[in-house]
Amino acid sequence: MKEKTGAPTAIGEHVTKVQALWKEIYHWPDMPTDGRQWDKLFAEGDTFTIGELKARVMHSPGHTLASITYVIGDAAFVHDTLFQPDFGTARADFPGGDAKVLWNSIQQILALPDATRVFTGHDYMPNGREPQWESTVAEQRERNPHLARVSEAEYIALRHKRDSELPMPKLILHSLQVNARGGQLPEPEANGKRYLKIPLDALEGAAWD
Ligand SMILES: [Fe+2]
Repeated sequence: MKEKTGAPTAIGEHVTKVQALWKEIYHWPDMPTDGRQWDKLFAEGDTFTIGELKARVMHSPGHTLASITYVIGDAAFVHDTLFQPDFGTARADFPGGDAKVLWNSIQQILALPDATRVFTGHDYMPNGREPQWESTVAEQRERNPHLARVSEAEYIALRHKRDSELPMPKLILHSLQVNARGGQLPEPEANGKRYLKIPLDALEGAAWD
């Protein structure tokens, strides 16, 4: 989209921590980790506009170190924090993830006005239902099985148990190499070809399908 439209790209400023983390895991001595791969790094509370729409940035870590929520008008784009209220919340066991930190981020989202429309990053279509992407803060607070009448300690315990049983996404080690570079492929090696690296011991104890 940037190539086609010239639109600037932006991401949460803590992406620099994600870059530093994966730079070690992949052993990329020359990888810049100052976020220069994007045009703009957003901090907590930053505001911007899309046309006449006013948008605000909330730092929402826990699933990753850099996660952010965009609050735009009466909508919140919450990426991987909350999923649909009949499913639950995002896992917190990837490198840089933390269940307690994710709980705090989710509480900040749930503190938005009840009628705020919540747009999630994924949907897992429980019980074979059709895909969904939208709910409200009130629905999340009342119906989300990971949050409704669940304490912080119960949430952390639930997250740890569930995360220990979830297999790693098959392509996580492939995709992070492109994601961490702002969508660019790795630089070509001396023979002019580009490679993805697969570290064999990066995710200790992880389950794979
Ligand atoms: Fe994710």
